[in-house]
Amino acid sequence: MQLIDLRSDTVTKPSPGMRKAMFDAEVGDDVYKEDPTVNRLEEFAAHLLGKEASLFVPTGVMGNQICLNVLTKPGDEVICERHAHIFQYESGSPARLSGLQLSLVDGNKKGIFTTDQVEPLIRPASAYYMARTRVIEIENTHNRAGGTINTIENIKSLSLLAKSNNLYIHLDGARIWNAYVETGIKPSEYASHFDTVSCCLSKGLGAPIGSIIAGSNEFIKEAYSVRKAWGGGMRQVGVIAAAGFYALMNNVERLKEDHQKAKLLASSLADSKNINIDLELVETNIVMFSPIGISIEEFHSRCKTNGLSLGTGKVGEVRAVTHMDVSINDVKEAAEIIRSVLA
Ligand SMILES: Cc1ncc(COP(=O)(O)O)c(C=O)c1O
Repeated sequence: MQLIDLRSDTVTKPSPGMRKAMFDAEVGDDVYKEDPTVNRLEEFAAHLLGKEASLFVPTGVMGNQICLNVLTKPGDEVICERHAHIFQYESGSPARLSGLQLSLVDGNKKGIFTTDQVEPLIRPASAYYMARTRVIEIENTHNRAGGTINTIENIKSLSLLAKSNNLYIHLDGARIWNAYVETGIKPSEYASHFDTVSCCLSKGLGAPIGSIIAGSNEFIKEAYSVRKAWGGGMRQVGVIAAAGFYALMNNVERLKEDHQKAKLLASSLADSKNINIDLELVETNIVMFSPIGISIEEFHSRCKTNGLSLGTGKVGEVRAVTHMDVSINDVKEAAEIIRSVLA
C-alpha cells in the first residue's frame, strides 16, 4: 500500500527537472567561495529578499541560529512567540549555542503578537542587572499556529518598535514563499522590515536540503564565520545549491496549489462532528485539527494502518501538510480515511 504522506512539506523528493539541474551543476570549493552555482544562488536569493547579501546554509535551524548568534552576545534576550519554531523545535539551541534566553509572548490563535504586548517586555537599557533585550523574532508563516500569515501592518509596527528601542528584528521565513503567493506581498517587501531573514528551500519548494539567510554585507561577513565554526562550511555544494536555485525558479508560484489542497482537506473535515477544526486558520498549506473521542496516538496509528501518515502540532492537535508530492485525489482520499477512522 502506498502511504499518503501529509506529515510535512519536507517529505518531497526532488523532481526529475531538479535532479537534472543537480546533475548538470558546475561546482567548486565553496569554503573558498569558488562554487559558481552557490554564488549564483546566493546572489539571486539576496535579490529576491532585497538584501545586500545572502548565505546558503544546510538547514532552517542553522539559519535561524546563525542569525541570532550574530545579532547577540551571551546573556542577551530574544522576544518571540510561545509557539515559535526557535522555542519549540530547535533543540534548545538559542541557549546551547549562543547563551541566549527567550522571552515568550502569547500570540493570538494565528500566532500573531502586537507592539502592545512586546513593549512592556523590553528591558530598560540602564538595568545592567537584567538580561539585555536584543532581538524580536517573528515567524511568517507560523508553523505551529497552522501556517498562518502575519499582517504586513503588524510587521511594520513591530519593526518600528524594534528600531526605536535599538533592537534587531529577525524573520523566521521558512515558509515566506507561502505567505507571498497567498498575499501577493513580495518576499523583499516582507524582508525590508527585518535586519535578518532565514528562509527554507527544502519545504514547499521541494529542494532536498538548504536554507538561505540574508541581511547586510556586514552581517553576512559575520555569518560566514559562525557557519564555519559550527561545521557548516561546505565544499562542492553546488550540486545541492542547484536544487535550491531550480526551486526558486520553478516552484514558488505552484505553492498556490498546495494551499488549494489544504483548503479542500479542511473543508472536507469541517462538517464531521468528531473533529475540531478552525477554518479561519487554514491560510496556506497546513491544516491543524483535533480528533474527538480518540487518543492522538490511536488516531495516528489507525490512519497509518489505512494508508495515511499525519504529523503533530500543539498538544492534542494533528497536523496535515500539503505539498507537491500529493495530488488532489490523494487529499480527497486522506479526508475519507480520516472520516472513516473517526466514524
Ligand atoms: C518555521 C520553521 N522554521 C525553521 C524550521 C527549520 O528548518 P530545518 O528543518 O531545515 O532545520 C522549520 C522546519 O520545519 C520551520 O517550520
